[in-house]
Amino acid sequence: MTSPSIVICPDHGSLDRRAVEYFVGTAREATAARGRFTVALAGGSTPKPLYEMLASPPWRTQIDWGNVHMFWGDERLVPADHHESNYRMVNLALLSKVPVVATHVHRVPTDLGDPDTVATAYERTLRRHLTANGGEFPRLDLTILGLGADGHTASLFPYSDSLREERKLVVASQPPQLGPHRITMTVPMINQSRHILFLVSGAAKASVVKDVIAGQSDPQRLPAQLICPTHGTQVWMLDEAAAAELPRARARVQQKALGRNGEKADGS
Ligand code: 6PG
Repeated sequence: MTSPSIVICPDHGSLDRRAVEYFVGTAREATAARGRFTVALAGGSTPKPLYEMLASPPWRTQIDWGNVHMFWGDERLVPADHHESNYRMVNLALLSKVPVVATHVHRVPTDLGDPDTVATAYERTLRRHLTANGGEFPRLDLTILGLGADGHTASLFPYSDSLREERKLVVASQPPQLGPHRITMTVPMINQSRHILFLVSGAAKASVVKDVIAGQSDPQRLPAQLICPTHGTQVWMLDEAAAAELPRARARVQQKALGRNGEKADGS
């Protein structure tokens, strides 16, 4: 189990460029090795510019969209055209602009209504379209994740039952604040990914980034600490604002300016 590497970029724009290069590289590697690229996308606001960049020159032509299979790491239990829908956000930013194959886009079937019914149906979708390589959990090539200011990722919220799920791939969850139910991939499902990319931007996340990466282990309070690929890689891509409270964050920014590789979480 390798420790996560950290890439710190000066600002959100350069963060998105590094992330799009990483996405293209991971897609090429997967397609060359297995003939397709399976990716679970994150919701929220942070990854939207990345999706828009993927749909723009020169990157849009660097991906074999016909072999990309898209999933969602989590979704809000709202209609697909609802302004809070993660599917809608990705569709507007990316899917509507690139030649993905419609049957390769696997959105969470929120129209089924009942949270547990939706979660069970999406689990069937994952099992049908992903290979498990003999294990009980199918493997994605890449899972993109964001980080909430409370330490949640996907829709795995602090102190929630979903954090203890060890067998299901997908569960329903209720965010602490009022709002629609969520559907989320579970920790063991996410940790099966070949590659996990956390994409975090902005000063508002600096404190939680420090707590999750460099703070005491407290995964019930900070569910993002549960994310650790069982046999894959994990990269944190941060802008300088989000990394500002990380130990030696300043030094890392200078290192980043020199090198193009991620550094280990301990700064080695
Ligand atoms: C969602 C996401 C969620 C998000 C974080 C960060 O459905 O909202 O999956 O986990 O990644 O809440 O959200 P921002 O990128 O908007 O800060």
